[in-house]
Amino acid sequence: MTTATVILAAGYGTRMKSTLPKVLHPLAGRPLVEWVVRMGESIGGRRPVVVVGHGKEAVQRLLGERVEYAEQRELLGTGHAVMQAKSHLRGQAELVVVLYADMPLLREATLQKLLDLYRQNQSQGRLAAAMLTIARDDPQGFGRVIRNGSGQIEKIVEEVDCTPEQKHIRELNPGIYCFNGDWLWENLPKLQKRPKGEYYLTDMVEIATSQNWRVLGMQAPPAEVYGINDRTHLAVAANVLRQRINEQHMRAGVTIVDPAATYIEATVQIGQDTTIHPGCHLQGNTVIGSGCEIGPNSQIIECQIGDGCRILYSVLEYARMDRASEIGPFGHLRKGAHLGEEVHMGNFGEVKNSYLGPGTKMGHFSYVGDATVGKNVNLSAGVITCNYDGKNKNHTELADDVFLGSDTLLVAPVNLGVGARTGAGSVVTQDVPPGALVYGVPARAPSRKNEVDHSA
Ligand code: UD1
Ligand code: CA
Repeated sequence: MTTATVILAAGYGTRMKSTLPKVLHPLAGRPLVEWVVRMGESIGGRRPVVVVGHGKEAVQRLLGERVEYAEQRELLGTGHAVMQAKSHLRGQAELVVVLYADMPLLREATLQKLLDLYRQNQSQGRLAAAMLTIARDDPQGFGRVIRNGSGQIEKIVEEVDCTPEQKHIRELNPGIYCFNGDWLWENLPKLQKRPKGEYYLTDMVEIATSQNWRVLGMQAPPAEVYGINDRTHLAVAANVLRQRINEQHMRAGVTIVDPAATYIEATVQIGQDTTIHPGCHLQGNTVIGSGCEIGPNSQIIECQIGDGCRILYSVLEYARMDRASEIGPFGHLRKGAHLGEEVHMGNFGEVKNSYLGPGTKMGHFSYVGDATVGKNVNLSAGVITCNYDGKNKNHTELADDVFLGSDTLLVAPVNLGVGARTGAGSVVTQDVPPGALVYGVPARAPSRKNEVDHSA
């Protein structure tokens, strides 16, 4: 049976008080709407149809070809929003799942159960929809589920339209439905405009029961039903998702010392036997190998970290560390930094757009930018590449086994050959041949005269 998903994402989200559309607010590493798109994708079938309106360009930029779009030009309510998907889906899918884009906590398994309920009851005929309901003391403005004398769902009444008795009902409508496609498209035009000027999707329930068609309800865990209307809701949902993400990693063999103080986005991968210490923020498409020690207090954005690495009180962005390399405390890897195997970077170092070869050591207070550094190079305390001349970024090349004395300044562009050495405080303005020693300002090779002076 083909299924389709319609995701309603056209609303204003006024209560977010934001120039960013509500559905694009980030939540544990993904924009709000993406969580719901994934839910839609999880049930298979065709690409979800996202109904866009407010902020449509930004939503389309984010989701691209992953979904189809139906535009709702005037925001006339949830029923009107679903109507916009009709030309996409009429005759295309037997089952149409409708999701609201502001409900990110629903689990795939729960949605799957709802589909199963629909399928199991379909053969008895006249089944218009299966919907989730929740029982919760705090109704949070949700619509109430009204049942008839024999316990069948009869209609949904929005909170604003409730009689005082209906207000006490604690079975609520989360807004997650699985409709009979043919029935839906045929009957949607029957929706009446409400006094508020809106077409309520929820009125489809009453249309069904008045025709003697059935609407089945399935109780969902209340914790999975949480609508984001303002930023306090966003924070609560982020917490729930964070906890789920952390639990997944722990079950897969990652030690998280203090989950409440660990912020791992949904997009991050972590290998077995890695330990994450408190205060870490792991973000974007970061991949961390196995057997690493991460943190405490480190931020890692879009990085590739090999096995057995150690990262202590550091900030890493768009960088790569190979097996058994280490950084910190207080290191900074910027875009394009790549530490080879067993590189050691100690305190207060910064590397940008540079490769440091295996076994290289950069222990204290150094800056390396736009450089290629070979194997087993020693960058003593305070070594700096002067890579920017005010106009251009220039390259520095250090071959294998170079030894730089403390406070060496490398005025790029400059190349040092294999095994070249510099004295402390050298300002290197010219290339240094393999094996040579230079020192001074500007750095030169020791002259014969100097040697005589020394021996005198
Ligand atoms: C809706 C339900 C209510 C339910 C609640 C659960 C209706 C009439 N009411 O109310 O029974 O308890 O959700 O959260 O459906 N949207 C559009 N176009 C529109 C209006 C809304 O795309 O013209 C989208 C919004 O972007 C949002 C979703 O539909 O993602 C829900 O709209 P919202 O205004 O939040 O509905 P509620 O008042 O919460
Ligand atoms: Ca809502």
